[in-house]
Amino acid sequence: MSNNLLKGKRGIIFGALDDQSIAWKVAEAVAAQGAKFTLTNAPVALRFGKIQQLGEKLDAKIIPADATSLDDLEALITQSMEELGGPLDFILHSIGMSLNVRKNRPYTDVNYEWMHKTFDISAISFHKLMQTAMKLEAISDWGSILALTYIAAQRVFPDYNEMAESKALLESFARSFGYHFGVKNKVRVNTLSQSPTWTTAGSGVKGFKEFFNYADQMSPLGNATAEECANYCVFLFSDLSRKITMQNLYHDGGFSSMGINPAIVED
Ligand SMILES: NC(=O)c1ccc[n+]([C@@H]2O[C@H](COP(=O)([O-])OP(=O)(O)OC[C@H]3O[C@@H](n4cnc5c(N)ncnc54)[C@H](O)[C@@H]3O)[C@@H](O)[C@H]2O)c1
Repeated sequence: MSNNLLKGKRGIIFGALDDQSIAWKVAEAVAAQGAKFTLTNAPVALRFGKIQQLGEKLDAKIIPADATSLDDLEALITQSMEELGGPLDFILHSIGMSLNVRKNRPYTDVNYEWMHKTFDISAISFHKLMQTAMKLEAISDWGSILALTYIAAQRVFPDYNEMAESKALLESFARSFGYHFGVKNKVRVNTLSQSPTWTTAGSGVKGFKEFFNYADQMSPLGNATAEECANYCVFLFSDLSRKITMQNLYHDGGFSSMGINPAIVED
């Protein structure tokens, strides 16, 4: 159903790899609400992923960019403004990758070069994106910038490894940059802390099935799906959420407030 909540708005969506990606669902939802946007992903993901199909379906231009490269980010933002015909109203950062997780290194024996790379891809890219956008004066007044995160930033989930610290850094960048962007031109910056979701990045975490089922049973409303996450993103990009900024917003069916749930305790 469309209420045209995003009619006339322009944006960039990072991170749609395949139709399981949260960013893929967000792209479909914001298009249905009348927004125009460009899609972007790392050049390697463009070769192996299915983003071309999404671009054709939604009539969105695809612009490759490695989110750790300042040159790529500058070219992406500049080309997006040209393509869309003006400054941007929203950006979704939906990027995460851990080399130590991918290569099965335990948290107590990480490779530190890989850890630096993980932080660069999963968190510092968010700062780079905002700094580049601010320098280019690319975000309209009352724009909305959003990154996806996970509760392992606050609580211990041992198999989440160095992604926990990546998310803590990401959330801190949202608060600190949110101050500067708010003062400059009323731009809001938030992180959305999503339930475990079946995607390429999600299912790469060891024991993901158990992880997913545990959260689903702990949460009184059950896990939030990618489609539900996309609806929340529509709200956060719309004019209905203008004064929400510098927040980490849980979208998790109540999981983050639970201590114990009798449903999963055996006698
Ligand atoms: N799936 C979950 O359980 C879950 C839960 C909470 C938060 N999140 C977060 O949601 C976001 C999206 O992940 P997803 O679950 O949709 O998985 P996904 O694998 O579909 O998306 C991750 C994306 O990051 C992109 N990426 C990796 N390196 C990049 C680079 N250098 N430059 C640009 N893009 C790069 C990948 O190509 C991919 O499109 C991530 O931040 C993830 O941590 C996921």
